Amino acid sequence: MRVGIGILGGGVVGGSLAHKLLTESDVITAKTGLDLELVKVAVRDLEKQRPFPSSYATDRPEDVVDDPDVGLVVELMGGMEPARSLVLRALDAGKPVVTANKQLVAAEGPTLFQRAEANGVSLLFEAAVGGGIPIIRPLSESLAGERITSVMGIVNGTTNFILTKMSEDGLPYADVLAEAQRLGYAEADPTADVSGADAAAKAAILAGLAFGVWVDLDRVYMEGIEHISSTDIAFAARLGYVVKLLGVAESTPDGVSVRVHPALVPDNHPLAAVRGAQNAVFVSGPALGELLFSGPGAGGDPTATAVLGDVVTAARELLAHAPVAPRVRIGAGVVADFGQVDTCHYLRLEVDDAPGVLAAIAGAFGEAGVSIRSVWQEGRGEDATLLLITHAAPEAAHAKAQQRLAEIDTVRQVASVIRVVGDTA
Ligand SMILES: NC(=O)c1ccc[n+]([C@@H]2O[C@H](COP(=O)([O-])OP(=O)(O)OC[C@H]3O[C@@H](n4cnc5c(N)ncnc54)[C@H](OP(=O)(O)O)[C@@H]3O)[C@@H](O)[C@H]2O)c1
Repeated sequence: MRVGIGILGGGVVGGSLAHKLLTESDVITAKTGLDLELVKVAVRDLEKQRPFPSSYATDRPEDVVDDPDVGLVVELMGGMEPARSLVLRALDAGKPVVTANKQLVAAEGPTLFQRAEANGVSLLFEAAVGGGIPIIRPLSESLAGERITSVMGIVNGTTNFILTKMSEDGLPYADVLAEAQRLGYAEADPTADVSGADAAAKAAILAGLAFGVWVDLDRVYMEGIEHISSTDIAFAARLGYVVKLLGVAESTPDGVSVRVHPALVPDNHPLAAVRGAQNAVFVSGPALGELLFSGPGAGGDPTATAVLGDVVTAARELLAHAPVAPRVRIGAGVVADFGQVDTCHYLRLEVDDAPGVLAAIAGAFGEAGVSIRSVWQEGRGEDATLLLITHAAPEAAHAKAQQRLAEIDTVRQVASVIRVVGDTA
C-alpha cells in the first residue's frame, strides 16, 4: 500500500523526516503495513548539504505539490507565505497535508480546516505544539468526550531553558540568554520566544482544540520573560514556587480565556518539575481529572517523529478512498475580556519600614477589591521589601490595586508583579 510523500522544506525537521523515510521504511512498513515513499523535497538552496540525497531536492515547491506521484504533502518550511498558498493548493488537489507550522495554524486555522473539510482530506498538525509530545490528537480525538476546563502548558523550550538556568544557577536573565544562544537553544533574534509570541500561537491552537472556539492571536494576552529577575526567582523559591512561562487556555464564566505570561507555580505542581528545554501540557477536566503530557518540545528528530505519526494517519485515510470527517470543528464562542479573568498575583514592593505602611497597602488592595493571602517582610529600614500573594481577583481589580499602591508615599516601588498559577491553598 504505497503512498508518495512530498516534503516542503528540507531543514531541521524536513531533513530528519526525509532521512527517516529513506532509512526506516522497513520498520514503518512492518508496523503499519504502509509503504511511505519519499518522492521530492523542496528547499531554497540546492547546494546545501542535506541528510538525504540531492536527487530528491527541488527549489520549485509547486512542483512537489503538483507531482502526480505525490499523494500526501508535508509542509515543513515554516512562516506564512508561500507555506499558506502551497498548503491550500495541496488541499484543493485532494492531497492530505501534514504541517508543523504553528504560526500558520494559529493565524489561518479556520480557513485551513474548512478547506480540508470541503475537499474531504486530512489536515494534521501534531508537531505544531509541543514538538514530539502527542497533544493535538489527544485533545481533538481521545479527549473529545471530556468537558475540558483548562489546558496549561510550558510550550516554549527556549524560555523554559532560560528560567531553569536562572533558577538553578542564580544567574541574571541577560547572561543566561547569551548562554542559550551559544548552545543553540535560543535564536540570534530571540524575540518570538522571550516575548511569549511563540507560546501565544500554541496556546491559541490548544484553546481551539479544547474548547472549539478559535481565539485570534490579537485576543491572546501576552507577557514575556524579559522582566523576570533572579531576585524574584530566589524569593519565589523561598516561598515554595518556581517561575515558568505558561500558556493558559481556560473556560471561564465569561468565555474562553487564552493568555501567556510568567507565573509562580507551586513547587509540588507537576509543571514545576519540567526543566530545561522540555515542554509539558497539563489538561484538567471533570471526568479524567488531571493529565500531564511531557517530553521534547523541539529538535529535528523528535519533531519529525510526531510528523511521521501524522503521515501514517493521513496515508491510511487517503488509502481508504473516503471523505475524511473533520477533526477540528470551530464554533461560535465568546472570548473572555482579560480584565474580567480571575488571577492571583505575587508582588514585590520596596517600602519604607515605617509605622502605617502595611495599613496603607492593605487599604489600597481593599479599595480595589483584592484580598491579600500572605505577606512577608524581608530586610529593615531603607532596604525593606514586602512580598505579597493575593487571593484570586479580576485582572482589572489587580490593575486598580497597583495604581493605588504607586500613589502611596511609603511605597518606594512596585518592583515586580507576577501571576500565581496552580495554587490550591
Ligand atoms: N525545529 C524544531 O525543533 C521545530 C519544532 C516544532 C515545529 N517546528 C516547525 O517546523 C517547521 C520547520 O522548522 P525547521 O526548524 O525545520 O525550519 P528550517 O530548518 O529553517 O527549515 C526550513 C526549510 O524550508 C525551506 N524553505 C523555506 N522557504 C522556502 C521556499 N520559499 N522555497 C523552498 N524551500 C523553502 C528551507 O530551505 P533551505 O534549507 O534551502 O534554506 C529549509 O530547508 C516550522 O514551521 C517550525 O515552526 C520546528
